[in-house]
Amino acid sequence: MNFIGKDIISVNDMLRNEIDFILEKSEFIENMPVLEKSNLLKGKIIASLFFEPSTRTKDSFTTACYRLGGSITGFTDTSSTSLKKGETLFDTLKMYEIYSDVIVMRHNIEGSARFASECVDIPIINGGDGANQHPTQTLLDLYSIKKNQGKIDGLSIALAGDLKYGRTVHSLACALSLYKDITLYFISPESLKMPDFITELLKERNINFFECNEINDVIDKVDIFYMTRIQGERFPDKTEYEKVKGIYILEKNNLINVKENLKIMHPLPRIDEISKEIDNTPYAYYFEQAANGIPVRQALLSLLTGGIK
Ligand code: CP
Repeated sequence: MNFIGKDIISVNDMLRNEIDFILEKSEFIENMPVLEKSNLLKGKIIASLFFEPSTRTKDSFTTACYRLGGSITGFTDTSSTSLKKGETLFDTLKMYEIYSDVIVMRHNIEGSARFASECVDIPIINGGDGANQHPTQTLLDLYSIKKNQGKIDGLSIALAGDLKYGRTVHSLACALSLYKDITLYFISPESLKMPDFITELLKERNINFFECNEINDVIDKVDIFYMTRIQGERFPDKTEYEKVKGIYILEKNNLINVKENLKIMHPLPRIDEISKEIDNTPYAYYFEQAANGIPVRQALLSLLTGGIK
């Protein structure tokens, strides 16, 4: 399978065998001796263009790149760039097309990554575009699920929290719909339900899904409980945010009758939706999940630039 020069914009552009191939390559890179992988990006420059805050996506790409012998350019603060003087996104992208071999971009506008891919001829990796998609998060989520459950097919998975504005759950639900015998449970307040364009896709693909409001209605049924933060920054009306913030807090007393193999995942950052007392239980997987971002992003950068095939 040849990924050289490809864009990673949306999981909806991917086939299951392409996702599985990236997961296999992620495992391959994770198990590669450190010295052997230290040249996979030698001579390559990755542009990291972050128009929105990020800890994990930005710095796991940076770490992934440095550990493979590549270099990083770009910005995290647009006020230090000529965007501040009125330069357009198009012209900015044309500059980084000259300066780099791959662009990783996070932007607040939905569709911005697709737009970027139409502006330049080097690969664009979508690091999150508004409330739309976060495909590299989904790849690391699938890698994590496969690692902690041994498989993806046949699992029951709860997605909880802000299902309206949360791009991670949009991408993940779409990607899981490519797997067999998946059952999905969507837990959210009425105002933050999974959007129709996702539930329509699930219906088209004959995926079993159930919508509910309470953690305890489903937590004992699932293999993966994927919690998310209420995305305060995306609410047009802050009084609506005030009504739902803090609505779900996963605590130890929710875990009394859960399946032995349950893993709790979260794309992070968390605010208060997973109590710290859960961190030391065998169910907590969110920090390992974040760590899995390194091999997955290393595999992507290497595949797009030809370091691995
Ligand atoms: N999961 C995730 O996207 O985290 P950051 O916002 O810190 O990149």
